[in-house]
This record gives sequence, C-alpha cells and structure tokens, in this order.
Amino acid sequence: MDKLKAELLRGLWYVACLGSEIKPGAMTGRKLMGDMVLIGRDKAGRIFALRDICPHRGIPLRHGTFDGETVQCCYHGWRFNTEGVCVDIPSTHEDQVIDYSKITCGAYPAIEQQGLVWIYFSAAGERPDEGRQPRPPMLPDFAADTGPAVHIMQPFVCSVDHAALGLMDPTHAAFVHTSWWFKKNATKLRPKRKEFEPSELGWAMVRHKLPPQNIAYRLLGDDVTTEIRYALPGLRIEHIKGSRHSVVGLTTITPVTEDETEVRQMFWASMGWIRPFKPLVRHLMNTFLGQDRRVVIQQREGLEYNPRLMLINDADTQGRWWMQLKREWADSQAEGRAFQNPVRARVLRWMS
Ligand code: FES
Ligand SMILES: [Fe+2]
Repeated sequence: MDKLKAELLRGLWYVACLGSEIKPGAMTGRKLMGDMVLIGRDKAGRIFALRDICPHRGIPLRHGTFDGETVQCCYHGWRFNTEGVCVDIPSTHEDQVIDYSKITCGAYPAIEQQGLVWIYFSAAGERPDEGRQPRPPMLPDFAADTGPAVHIMQPFVCSVDHAALGLMDPTHAAFVHTSWWFKKNATKLRPKRKEFEPSELGWAMVRHKLPPQNIAYRLLGDDVTTEIRYALPGLRIEHIKGSRHSVVGLTTITPVTEDETEVRQMFWASMGWIRPFKPLVRHLMNTFLGQDRRVVIQQREGLEYNPRLMLINDADTQGRWWMQLKREWADSQAEGRAFQNPVRARVLRWMS
C-alpha cells in the first residue's frame, strides 16, 4: 500500500452517481478513476457514459450541448452520438469525404440499476461481457427499478485504500463515532466474535441473529438476522432481514483519482412508514460519515511523512483481506489467469 495513493482496479463496475441526478436530455461531467467522464441520459431515458474529452482538440464535451441524441462540442461543433461515435463535423465542405464513424471520443459501458448509475472501467482492451464481472451486483430483496430510500455522498481526501480500511475497521467506532445516539465513549468495550467466509469478490460476515431487545430491529419483525458482505472494488452490502421487512444498506467507494475518493452510503427499506423520517436519517448518516471523513483528513497529516503502517490480528484482518484481494485481482489480470479468492473461512475476535 502506498501511503497516499492507491492502485485503481480495472475490469470492475463502479457506482458513478444516482440515476435521479440525471434527467432525460441532460449530461454532467465527472472525474472518476482518474478519467474525465461525461454521464448523460438520452431522450428515451437511457443512461450513457463517454470519455469527456473531444478528440479534435481535447476540450471537455461537458462544455458543449446535448439535444437528447447527440453531444455537440462547444469549440468547433463536432457531434457525437451516445456511443461516442462522431456523426457530424460542421466544417466539412460538401466535396470532402470524411468517414465520421472512424472518429470517436470513447464510451464506457453504463447500467442503471436499483436507482444507481454503474460505469464499467475496463482492463486494457476488454469489454464487460468478456470480463469477470459482466454486470454490477444486484442487491437482494429489491427490484431492479427500486432506488434507495436515503442516499448521501461525501468526498474523502484520501485514497480508496484508506477509505476502505476505515469502512471495514470494526474497532474505531468507539473512538470516532461518538454521539449521544451512538456509542458514548471507549470505556465500555465488549468482546466480539464473528464468523467470516469467502464470498464473490470478497468476504462475508456470516448471517447471524441481531439482539431481539433492540427496538430498531424489532420493527422488522421476528428473527431478525444480518449478513455483511465486502467486495471489490469497495462495496459493503448489509442485508438485514426480519419476518416482516428487510433493509439493505450499501456503502460504495469510488476513486476520483489515486488520492481522492467519493464515499456513498444509502439504504433500501421495504417499510413505507420510513418516509417522514428520511431527513432525520439523512442527517444522522451525514454526521456518522462525517466523523470518518474527519479522521482521514487528520490521518493525512501523518501519511505525508510516509510512515510505516501496521495491520494487526484480528482487528485489522479484514483490512489485510482487502489488500490481498486487490493484489490478487491485479496479479491475475496481469498474468491472464482466473481470479482466486485469497480469503479463507475463519472466526475473528476483537473488543469494540
Ligand atoms: S475541440 Fe471539439 S470540435 Fe474542435
Ligand atoms: Fe467509520
């Protein structure tokens, strides 16, 4: 692990934004995975993503216009369709023959699913249907057209590695997430014992019962259980299920560059009565995530000096798995062989 920068994994789907952020006929420019990406929605409602650099003189296409079918560059008016292929060069004289279809700004595969826009960042020359992750992961219990009940995003000034290590770190909560409504202080740490097993592109904290005395869980019915999965390229999926309702929480870590990251937290809930509580829940989620964000800003002060870092057993074992998974993903891709999940089933114990 480089202290400040992270290797960005390719050949995977990343969450780019919420589908609701882009209306039909609109486009927006984003920096993701160190690339300039133009995300738009055509007149028919279909999402697309292009490389946001005009192949003529390099100006970002976001400065141009979109009529719901083609994007027109603001500099000399070249037009590109939603596949990124040039369809018009206004300066072409009628005697001149140019095969526009040979000119392209480049496109990224994009899919809208469960309210999220996912973009595929391919490994060199590979298409998603030939890659190892042909589609973004589908969250359990909710239909493909059901978006999250609540969603927040905060930019983190750190690499995906530090954002991910913080996300899967079970022992910082008592020190970092101190509020009147959550753990008050670090004086009452309790022993924890959880079972883990390998799962697709990551690992899972095996499904287990949640304390029935907890009011929040009782709202979901009887026999409330949870499973937490972590998967490349930086996803945490928590699936809480009771006899009456289920809730899915998703956290995504999308690299903006090697040392800037977008962290999103959102959840899907089957209970309709959650609606009036959304502003409160959003506020609490922002407070909680803001505490993580503050820590990485403070951490950066030390990381600038390139210190040696440590990952200890068992508190940081998940952090180790994350680094091993990333290494194996990159190595298997470079060597052109199948990915082999390095995680083995085991029990982890810690105090938190
Ligand atoms: S720079 Fe885009 S058309 Fe010339
Ligand atoms: Fe945290």
